[in-house]
Amino acid sequence: MKNIYSNIYSFNRKNLEKTIKSLKQANIVGLPTETVYGLAGNAYSKKAVKKIFKLKKRPKINPLIVHYDSFKQASKDVYLNENFRKLYKKFCPGPLTFILKKKRKSKITSLVTANLGSVAVRFPNHKVIKKILKLLDFPLAMPSANVSENLSPISALDVLDEFKDKLKIIINGGNSKIGIESTVIDLTGKPKILRPGIISSNEIKYILKTILSNKKARIRSPGMMKRHYSPGIPIVFGKKKISSNHAFIVFGKKYKNRKNYFNLSKKGNLKEAAANLYKTMRKIKKRKYKKIFIDKIPNRGPGLAINDRLLRASK
Ligand code: TXA
Ligand code: MG
Repeated sequence: MKNIYSNIYSFNRKNLEKTIKSLKQANIVGLPTETVYGLAGNAYSKKAVKKIFKLKKRPKINPLIVHYDSFKQASKDVYLNENFRKLYKKFCPGPLTFILKKKRKSKITSLVTANLGSVAVRFPNHKVIKKILKLLDFPLAMPSANVSENLSPISALDVLDEFKDKLKIIINGGNSKIGIESTVIDLTGKPKILRPGIISSNEIKYILKTILSNKKARIRSPGMMKRHYSPGIPIVFGKKKISSNHAFIVFGKKYKNRKNYFNLSKKGNLKEAAANLYKTMRKIKKRKYKKIFIDKIPNRGPGLAINDRLLRASK
């Protein structure tokens, strides 16, 4: 099959080889993961990482997540502690990112970590990224493949939307199943969730058999920056006066089908709602609505992550 867009490639051996070659030459490629699509580059190469920051227009104070194939590979760069081992065993590969202490002899370029002395480590679970990591002898620094503050992309076309021809290779791996970014947990001290995600704090508490810290974080993460994940139109909670040029994001079966109503999950399933969140917001933006109203989303499990993203998008 011929590619419709010259920089979106299907996942086959030839394109895999092209991608590997490009990454080895310190270039940046768009790759699918199970959470959202990422902008990938060699985490050991300053040249590559500089390109990521430039493409994303990302402030240098915001560190990137480093993606590994196995914990053995990660142990070259970070100290793996007991809490890590428990969570790794239960959830990895999967949508969970660990903040761990960086080893002095680590080859990760300091730009990746914003000189923090810690590294965000993730083991993604998508056949494309898994295969690529396996074939490389370096880990991939990979933020979500959106321009800073925009919505994260969940398809190859979304990535194209963000970067147009500035990216030479985007691998099409279908829609990201989870649809929101990984849960980020700081394990450098008392465990603390820095960014909520599909894996909830309750699940983590259960595995660690300890309470999590709710102290304010010292470090700034984009996930903690006030404005983030924005569709670029005003977002209002509640449903005061919705005219037909306003979009209404709803949840659950009590809503009728209307042209300007966007149901995140008719079944009232929070996981499904999370998977539909960014997709829906992109759709609304494309249809040129002036404002987005949002229905109440239950604040539990994946609902916590959804409300976190909505709150930031509304800032
Ligand atoms: O699901 C995901 O995590 C996606 C896919 C592509 O893996 N990646 C992603 O990356 O969301 P990004 O760069 O958009 O978000 C990374 C988050 C930010 O909130 C960043 O501040 C935080 O991780 N982070 C990275 N390194 C950190 C560190 N050393 N300490 C604290 N937070 C860190
Ligand atoms: Mg991001």
